[in-house]
Amino acid sequence: MKLFIDTADVAQIKEAHSWGIVDGVTTNPTHVSKTGRRPADVYQEIFSIVSGPISLETIGLKADAILAEGRQLAKYHKNAVIKVVNTREGLKAVKQFTAEGIKTNVTVTFSPLQALLAAKVGAGYISPFVGRLDAVGHVGMDLVRQIKTIYGHYGFKTEIIVAAVRHPLHVLEAALAGADICTMNFDVLKQLYDHPLTDIGIELFLNDWKKVPKQ
Ligand code: E4P
Repeated sequence: MKLFIDTADVAQIKEAHSWGIVDGVTTNPTHVSKTGRRPADVYQEIFSIVSGPISLETIGLKADAILAEGRQLAKYHKNAVIKVVNTREGLKAVKQFTAEGIKTNVTVTFSPLQALLAAKVGAGYISPFVGRLDAVGHVGMDLVRQIKTIYGHYGFKTEIIVAAVRHPLHVLEAALAGADICTMNFDVLKQLYDHPLTDIGIELFLNDWKKVPKQ
C-alpha cells in the first residue's frame, strides 16, 4: 500500500519525505489556507520535494469552472493530480479531464455508488473519507471494502485512497482491506513507527550491553 501525506505544510512534507516512505501528497483548500501562503508557491515547493502524485484541489462547483481551474493546475507539473468534488458537475468535469489525459482524484466521497460513478468517468483516484463517516456513527472502512469489491467486480482501474484518516488503526484497516493508498497527516504517519515494546526492547539491549566486558 502506498502512503501519502495529507498536508500542505512544506516543512512536514520535507521531514516525512526524508524518512523514505512518502509516495505522494494530497492537499485541500483547508490545508493550503493553514499555510497562509499563495497556493502557487506552496504547490511549486511540494513538487520540488516529492516526485510522486500531488493532488491539488479545484474549488469550482460547475463543470466549466472546474475544467478551467484544473487545466491551469495541471500545468504546474506532470505529477499534478486534479482533485474534484464528487458531484454531478464534478464528475462531468472528470470525464473531460480523462479525455484530455489529465489525472483526477475524486474527493469528499461518502458512498459506494458515488465511487462507482467516479470510476465510470475514468477517475484516477477515489478518496473515501473514513474518519468523517466514523464521526457520524458509520463505519468508514466499510465504505472502503465496498468500493474495493465493486471495483474488483468490474475491473475498474481507479485507485482507492483512504482519506480523512485519524489514527494508525485506520491505516492498518486500509492495508487489510487492500486499499491502494492511504493518505494521512504528519502525526499519524509518525505514529506508525512507534511501539512501546520496541523502545523497551532497545533499552534492555543497551543496558545489557553495558555489562558485557569490553576487553
Ligand atoms: C484527503 O485527500 C483530504 O485532504 C483529507 O483526508 C480531508 O479529511 P479531513 O479534513 O477530515 O482530515
